[in-house]
Amino acid sequence: MTSLATGTGPATAPGSVGAALETVSAATNDGYADLPRHLLAASDLSREAAIAVLDTAERIDQAIAGREVRKLPTLRGRTVVNLFYEDSTRTRISFELAAKRLSADVINFSAKGSSVSKGESLKDTALTLQAMGADAVVIRHSASGAPHRLAGWVAGTVINAGDGTHEHPTQALLDAFTLRRHLLGGAVRDRVGNGLDARHVVIVGDILHSRVARSNVTLLHALGARVTLVAPPTLLPVGVDEWPCSVSYDLDAALAGADAAMMLRVQKERMDGAFFPTAREYTRGYGLDLRRRALIAPHGIVMQAGSMTRCMEFAQAGADGRGSVVTEQVANGVTVRMAVLYLLVSGEGADRV
Ligand code: CP
Repeated sequence: MTSLATGTGPATAPGSVGAALETVSAATNDGYADLPRHLLAASDLSREAAIAVLDTAERIDQAIAGREVRKLPTLRGRTVVNLFYEDSTRTRISFELAAKRLSADVINFSAKGSSVSKGESLKDTALTLQAMGADAVVIRHSASGAPHRLAGWVAGTVINAGDGTHEHPTQALLDAFTLRRHLLGGAVRDRVGNGLDARHVVIVGDILHSRVARSNVTLLHALGARVTLVAPPTLLPVGVDEWPCSVSYDLDAALAGADAAMMLRVQKERMDGAFFPTAREYTRGYGLDLRRRALIAPHGIVMQAGSMTRCMEFAQAGADGRGSVVTEQVANGVTVRMAVLYLLVSGEGADRV
């Protein structure tokens, strides 16, 4: 496996960054063989591959913790393009930071202000990036399936940073990383090599429009967790009964003793009709307030993936305080995306093609 050693001293010196990262290789060997070339959907990852990503993120975090310069030379000379056709705060910034911390050259491409506004197609943009030698393209697009199309046009690795209402696999990975940290114990050795077996995660809200929910259900199921979706019937997709999870309309009952509540934003920008009578009624049925927070297990956590609407999915300071890990999710996003870039874009990825 490609070494993550930093060149700052003997790779195997006890306590050195090199030594810590050698453990990364040892810890991820099993799932490593299973890693896909592209990360387009959570289903691209087997349980072993997902655990390999989470373990690698743990070791990267260990290796750079407390360092004055939090950088590794792993992707030096590689080019990562962030291709964003849709607005993003957390994902775009964290992919940029992750690639820079791995010493890659980073190009940030936003559709606004580019030749896309003159009518250039996704394919032509992709071929331009290919001509410039992009080793990896991180793409967010409002059209479900755009990353799949891109993967057919470019030679490098494609990573889906959110496509329409379809998938957001790195969000699911960072959520699983956060869950593992809180639910499996404080020591790295308690977490490495493990999934989330028998843990109960309740995902609440606008499932219909949520790529985060889709990716989380798939990944959490692969990691052995039990997932319950809670939403008004109008915000559940057709065919949800075939997903590997339960569905409930009773939030109080679902939250009782749960290990985590994942609150989804109501995506008004994707709605073309009335999905519930009023915001107040939505919050009454599906918002997290202090009474409902108390129903979650004492060790349980409250999560939220994107920009939150405090008066809708959260009420009465339900987003803050005990058990809220919302800002921690953002921090973990950088580490997990470093692991994804390292595993898929380092030389080993090319060998697998
Ligand atoms: N979680 C997430 O996708 O957030 P952004 O839309 O800010 O990237």
